[in-house]
Amino acid sequence: MTRIFSGVKPTGHLTLGNYLGAVRTWVEEDQYRADALFSVVDLHALTVEHDPARVRRLSRQAATLLLAAGLDPGRCTLFVQSHVDEHTRLSYLLECTATDGELRRMIQYKEKGASARAAGGAVRVSLLTYPVLMAADILAYGTDEVPVGDDQAQHVELTRDLAVRFNQRYGHTFTVPRATHPRVAARVMDLQDPTGKMGKSHANGAGIVYLLDEPDVVRRKVMRAVTDSGWGVEYDRAARPGVANLLDVLAACGGGRPEALAGAYASYGALKEDVAEAVVELLRPLRERHAALAADPGYVDAVLREGAERARGIARPVVDRAYGAVGLLPPG
Ligand code: TYM
Repeated sequence: MTRIFSGVKPTGHLTLGNYLGAVRTWVEEDQYRADALFSVVDLHALTVEHDPARVRRLSRQAATLLLAAGLDPGRCTLFVQSHVDEHTRLSYLLECTATDGELRRMIQYKEKGASARAAGGAVRVSLLTYPVLMAADILAYGTDEVPVGDDQAQHVELTRDLAVRFNQRYGHTFTVPRATHPRVAARVMDLQDPTGKMGKSHANGAGIVYLLDEPDVVRRKVMRAVTDSGWGVEYDRAARPGVANLLDVLAACGGGRPEALAGAYASYGALKEDVAEAVVELLRPLRERHAALAADPGYVDAVLREGAERARGIARPVVDRAYGAVGLLPPG
């Protein structure tokens, strides 16, 4: 059976980009067609300056939201990364496989490293090694497919390179995974800056729709979205990124192709109104189920406990095999 692994990091509240780019596919397709594991990858939230209480809160919230979105613990495995030691155990072996040059080439390292330096701060070593831990997350489970948004494609490529290199050096140990992306909305852009990705931890939240935003807040953010100068509603990602983004979101919410939807609108205002309503309706059931689940943290904890146990059972033998393959003496 196909094995799927993916994750979300609790560095901020989950966004419409996380949902359309990844979570919705996990919920609607992946958990039904494969042995799927999904993780709140909390160790990845420590690569930048963080507040411990906030990471703890966001981790629980992310797990609750994933259940509210429709992950069914009877069909898939949901767990918190730091509850399964195999991720960090394997990460070290992969650090001994990766080179510093290939890590320094990662786009997210360059961007986040530059912004940390610009803010006068230091760059944590873990920001550089982060894609190696991500590779460990994936390879520890013999993963075939990694459903992610576009922005993670480079990290999955690196994961493939590391798996192939390790297998060549030490004998076949890892399955070589591949990334899968949604047909539309694989990269939802910031509503205020449609040339940049809608990201959880952006300083200014006006261009970000969070999954738990109230309907009025969603409407306001969409109605104030930056559109492009020019006449008519056209789908052109390069020349009209703001309008193309709204059409992508509309297509992702309601089906259809963004190019075809463009023809139905005479004005940006009418398009924004329909996008706002579509997003509000998309998020309504999620917010309602989140409220119910948040009232029962014991249930969420139990799901995470069972998930970690199952995840450990899968990862342990894979990582033990890798330890043996590189020449480490097994404990007697
Ligand atoms: P993270 O937490 O930034 O995002 C979680 C998922 O949401 C997708 N995504 C988006 N998709 C479309 N448009 C957007 N604006 C947008 N923003 C985020 C991401 O592509 C991702 O699929 N490194 C990962 C977490 C991770 C992981 C893993 C993923 C750690 N280990 C192993 C897969 C497998 C990250 O930062 O995702």
